[in-house]
Amino acid sequence: MAQDTEREQWGTKLGLILAVAGNAVGLGNFLRFPVQAAQNGGGAFMIPYFTFFILLGIPLMWIEWGIGRYGGSYKHGSAPGMFDVLWKNKLAKYFGALGLFISITILIYYTYIESWTLGFSLFSILGMYSNETKETMTGFLSSYQGITTSETFSSIWTAYLLMLLTFFINFWVLYRGISKGIEKLAKIAMPLLFIFAIILAIRIITLGAPDPAHPENSVANGFAFIWNPDFSALGNPNIWLAAAGQIFFTLSVGMGTIQAYASYLKKDDDIVLSGLTTSSTNEFAEVILGGSIAIPVAVAFFGLEATKEIAKGGAFNLGFVSMPTIFGSEAFPQGSIFGFMWFLLLFFAGITSSVAMGQPVVAFLEDELGMNRKKAVAFLAIGVLIAVQFVVFFLKFGFLDEMDYWAGTFGLVVFALIETILFMWVFGADKAWKEMNYGGDIKIPFFFYYIMKYITPVILMILMIWWFIESALPTLLLKNVKPENVPYIWGSRLLMVTIALIFLWLVKKAWDNNHKEVK
Ligand code: PHE
Repeated sequence: MAQDTEREQWGTKLGLILAVAGNAVGLGNFLRFPVQAAQNGGGAFMIPYFTFFILLGIPLMWIEWGIGRYGGSYKHGSAPGMFDVLWKNKLAKYFGALGLFISITILIYYTYIESWTLGFSLFSILGMYSNETKETMTGFLSSYQGITTSETFSSIWTAYLLMLLTFFINFWVLYRGISKGIEKLAKIAMPLLFIFAIILAIRIITLGAPDPAHPENSVANGFAFIWNPDFSALGNPNIWLAAAGQIFFTLSVGMGTIQAYASYLKKDDDIVLSGLTTSSTNEFAEVILGGSIAIPVAVAFFGLEATKEIAKGGAFNLGFVSMPTIFGSEAFPQGSIFGFMWFLLLFFAGITSSVAMGQPVVAFLEDELGMNRKKAVAFLAIGVLIAVQFVVFFLKFGFLDEMDYWAGTFGLVVFALIETILFMWVFGADKAWKEMNYGGDIKIPFFFYYIMKYITPVILMILMIWWFIESALPTLLLKNVKPENVPYIWGSRLLMVTIALIFLWLVKKAWDNNHKEVK
């Protein structure tokens, strides 16, 4: 059985750091963050954002590294097994199934979006969009997505093939394993990602005001738009919810991917400094690089008012409509090369995150059901490829958004609350504190003991309740859904319930088979 075989390990410390940073640095840093900042009071957004980074992000990062390394020492690489060793209760493992549900649900739609970035990087270098307006580019995107047809794309098949290719690369990396697959990918993709992002940021910062007739449309005004604080926004609770949501999503906490990666550490490997390093790397990529690309260049090209509209239209609009319009315009010299870099940068950011979402499920199938890696990856591949069909073909009916809300927003807070309570209260704060600091290159400052024990869980609880009332309930009751989309929303929910039930059943099966003697 899998229990008797050696667990995989990371090859090098640098590789591990790059892999976890790769997990965190994703589409969220370059697409979601700028839009969130722009929509939520600009510079004022950074106040709740950094507050939650300190009170939620960093503590959860350490908690997750701690739970992961501890679980790994019992040969558990996914939340069901990890929760089972933290809490000696029959129900613990079923709570862990929530982590598997979230990872796979996000994986399904996230990888599809990632495949667009691969496609658009090719379209850039092939010069397939040039001199488009925002309207025609919207048509380009929607025909690519199979929602409309155009001369360029008469059907969805280009997108479909790129989707298959992207999933194939993901599964191949997972199949190669921790050090030969995930770590190797991170060692190549992360440096390239940073180089591309830095080149793009410098190019954009030096653009000035591209249109002499409109000197107010400048990069400087773009920075001013994101960074000038609108303090009146701080009184609006939605800004605080948005900031918390962004911290969860961008750091990849609240679902079990960090824990899965940490489970391949050795017992006395450092987690304190590594957890801090990866969080800081993510923040650099997000605030400095992510903040310097998409929004400033949009203001320089379209002006402030239009950019506000773009930001309201969301992350896809900014990434796949505005950016190509800019790179395709004559006013952007060598736009096709910069466009290629932009989308390839997004692809690298995406793929180092999507493999992370697959790993907990692979680890679960290996560790708890005794499958070998090949079989585990095949099993994951079949499940995901069936589910993604709905996402691809029902995109315009809000199928993806429904999944993103329950798994990618609300689910993260619920899972984070459960794991924090299990680690800091059930397992016990003193033991947890020792566990996290064990083998550390530095010590966690002691005030974090109180933050993790009291403040983090209380904030999580408030967030969960607040989110439930503000958005989960209205979403559940289909408040803002177009009537024609309702059946698809129910379809999306049915898919999610099915995924959840499959995992609950697999967890039960695994424990019935393997774990009788352990209890
Ligand atoms: N952190 C990733 C991003 O910013 C997304 C992600 C979420 C990755 C959850 C893994 C787990 O895009």
